[in-house]
Amino acid sequence: MAESTHGNGGIHVSVCMGTNCTFRGAAQLVETMLADEKIKDYCTIVETSCLSKKCNHANNSPVIRIEDDYFTQAKPEAVLDELHARIIAAQAETRET
Ligand code: FES
Repeated sequence: MAESTHGNGGIHVSVCMGTNCTFRGAAQLVETMLADEKIKDYCTIVETSCLSKKCNHANNSPVIRIEDDYFTQAKPEAVLDELHARIIAAQAETRET
């Protein structure tokens, strides 16, 4: 699968678009993130192939990775909350330096 990249922000997000995760809503996760202007500004979102079999035969799908942290059975609302928290932390860090 060819990787597709959206945005150029400092927070790196990988969304598994493997078969198991696609059947369990990975595309909806990407759509939800891309509809959020803050996330588009601060994140780089990469659609990728199976993330180290974290899906466990779809039992844990969809799977995303934010920086080094994996999130299984990811729900759009929870992903938005996590990314907004990381954006706020990144903004605070920028202000302190
Ligand atoms: S298909 Fe998504 S982690 Fe395996």
